[in-house]
Amino acid sequence: MKAVRFHEHGDSGVLRYEDAEQPVPAAGEARVRVAATSFNPVDGGIRGGYLQGPFPVTLPHVPGIEVSGTVDAIGEGVSNVAVGDAVVGFLSMTADGASAEYVVTPAEFLAPAPTSIPLADAAALPMVGLTAYQALFDDAGLQAGQRVLINGAGGAVGGYAVQLAKHAGAYVIATASPRSEGRVRSAGADEVIDHTTTAVADAVIEPVDVLLNLARIDADALVALATLVRSGGVVLNSVPMIPTPADEARGVRGVGIFVRSDADQLSRLVGLVDRGELRVDVAQRVPLAELPAVHAKDDAGEPSGRVVVVVVEHQN
Ligand SMILES: NC(=O)c1ccc[n+]([C@@H]2O[C@H](COP(=O)([O-])OP(=O)(O)OC[C@H]3O[C@@H](n4cnc5c(N)ncnc54)[C@H](OP(=O)(O)O)[C@@H]3O)[C@@H](O)[C@H]2O)c1
Repeated sequence: MKAVRFHEHGDSGVLRYEDAEQPVPAAGEARVRVAATSFNPVDGGIRGGYLQGPFPVTLPHVPGIEVSGTVDAIGEGVSNVAVGDAVVGFLSMTADGASAEYVVTPAEFLAPAPTSIPLADAAALPMVGLTAYQALFDDAGLQAGQRVLINGAGGAVGGYAVQLAKHAGAYVIATASPRSEGRVRSAGADEVIDHTTTAVADAVIEPVDVLLNLARIDADALVALATLVRSGGVVLNSVPMIPTPADEARGVRGVGIFVRSDADQLSRLVGLVDRGELRVDVAQRVPLAELPAVHAKDDAGEPSGRVVVVVVEHQN
C-alpha cells in the first residue's frame, strides 16, 4: 500500500511517500481503508522527535491520528463494527496512523461516520471535536447561561468549541484574527475580539465562568486572561508548553487538557453533524503525496487552516 512515513526524526524533509506493508488486524482491531486523515500541530512535534516523552513512536512511523474511511477487515472478537461500515476515529497517538491507504486500530476507537457530509471531510472531526467536547463538558461542566472565553477560537479546536458552547446555551466570547473572524462569528460567537489589535484581558469587562485557551501565547498572557475567570470558575488550557494557572484562594481550578479517544462521545458529535447542529470546517483538501508540503508550511509557521489529507476520493 502507499503511505507517508518517516524513518528518522527531523524536519518535514524526513517524510517519504512510499510503499509500506498493508497492516493486518489482530484480535480486537479493525483495518480501515482510509478515505482521509487530517493534519494537526502535534503531528509536527511527533515527526520532529520533540514529543517522544508523551508519545513515543517506533520508526518508521506513519503519522495521522484522525481517520475517516471504511472498515475493510476485522480481527477476532470485534462486534462494534463490521466490514463495509463507514467510520471515523481518533487513533492511538503512538501506533502507525492514517496517512496511508490502510490503518489498523483498536475497533473500540471507531464510531459510525456522519452521513450528511463527504466521508473524506469527516476526518476533520474526531480528535479536535473530542478535545473541544471533553474540555467544555467533562473538564469544565459547562452549563447553559454561563459565559465562556475561548482564546484561539480561530483554529481547528476553537471552531468546534465555539459551536458546542453555543449549542449548550453558553454566552461565547471568542478571540480571532481578521483571517478567521468571519468563521468564528458564523460558528456562533456572541463577541469576537481581534487578538492582533486588542489586549484581550482588557477587552472582557464582566468575568467569565470558563476560560478555554487554545493559543500558543506567553505564560504571563495566560495568567492575565485567568484573572477574568470568576471565583469558582475554571481555566482550561490545551497547550502543554504553557503552565495552566489556577487560583486556590478564589477557588479557580486550572485544568491542562489531555484529549482521549471516546467512541461514544464521537458518536454524539456525529449525531450533531447529521442533525445540522455542528459544522465541519475544511479549509483545504490535499492528496496524500502532498502531506510533506503541509508539514513544511506548518514548520514555517504559515497558517493553512484545517487540512484534510485525502487518500481515496469518493469512497462512499
Ligand atoms: N492537549 C490536548 O489534548 C490537545 C488536543 C488538541 C489540540 N491541542 C493543542 O491545542 C492548540 C490548538 O489546537 P488547534 O488544532 O486548534 O490549532 P490551530 O488550528 O493551529 O489553532 C490555533 C489558533 O490560535 C490562533 N492564535 C494564534 N495566535 C494567537 C494569539 N496570540 N491569541 C489568540 N489566538 C491566537 C490562530 O488563529 P487566528 O490567528 O486566526 O486567530 C490559530 O488558528 C494547539 O497547540 C494543539 O497542539 C492539544
